Amino acid sequence: MKIKKAIIPIAGKGTRFLPATKQMPKEIIPIINIPMIHHVVLEAVESGIEEIVFVTASGKFSVEDYFDRNYELEHFLETRGKTKELELIQKIGSMVSVVSVRQKQQLGLGHAVLMAESMMGDQPFAVLLGDDIVKNPIPCTRQLIETSLKYAGAPVIGVMNVSPEEVHRYGVVKGSAIEGTKTLVMESMVEKPKKEVSPSTLVTPGRYILTPDIFDLLKNIPRGAGNEYQLTDAINLLCKNRKVYAHQFQGERYDTGNIMGYLDATIDFALRDSETKDGMVEIIRKRFKDHGVSL
Ligand code: G1P
Repeated sequence: MKIKKAIIPIAGKGTRFLPATKQMPKEIIPIINIPMIHHVVLEAVESGIEEIVFVTASGKFSVEDYFDRNYELEHFLETRGKTKELELIQKIGSMVSVVSVRQKQQLGLGHAVLMAESMMGDQPFAVLLGDDIVKNPIPCTRQLIETSLKYAGAPVIGVMNVSPEEVHRYGVVKGSAIEGTKTLVMESMVEKPKKEVSPSTLVTPGRYILTPDIFDLLKNIPRGAGNEYQLTDAINLLCKNRKVYAHQFQGERYDTGNIMGYLDATIDFALRDSETKDGMVEIIRKRFKDHGVSL
């Protein structure tokens, strides 16, 4: 059993980041100097993923280019003796093998994942959504892969606890805890329920290990929440066919799909990096003073 492939859907229009996303994919917007998609791909690579399938749409070529070699830039850096920068961009260009497939209509996450069917083969695979960044010494996807392998390559949904006020933004799982573990056997999953009817407060920030039998379910589900084909609805059906697990992963999660989460990640990443920490503290102090903010 090997889990070596991952699907990363990147076809979204990024409307919450307009006007930046008018001309550039949201995935390329950086947190400080590292594009958001870099963090997500790095999580996959550090989890043992060897091949990434991007589900793309028009205007996303710069994401594919980012993970390709750029010989012109490499030559430029080489002739200028900028060895450190040269190594950095060579490393990004060789970090993982990338394939892409187009999602020609925006019919939802379930539909996007289905586009990658022919590239997945017969092994379990990971799905990572780019709106969330999760940081942990053992990457989130690695934790899910380990859980899946523990249960004979079964599907595993990465989950975290949120407040009841937040459940309506997520896929929510219902399950029973396996004693002595952070894992649950899932009973069902529902997409974006109102808090009054939500089965729990355990939600996925978009980290999944799935098995190829998900594709037949994806072909047969009706449109769901938001009139879209929802991956959650297919996972809900999968729970009826076989054992599906939910695993409460460890890690700091940043909701970079919206502006406040993006700001949070930017400040936190600056404070975590020894090269920028002192400068960031200084900036915050100064700006708080300028704006009469006291804590
Ligand atoms: C998608 C999924 C949802 C998941 C969320 C995580 O929703 O459909 O189940 O919880 O991503 O960010 P979206 O945010 O794309 O509407």
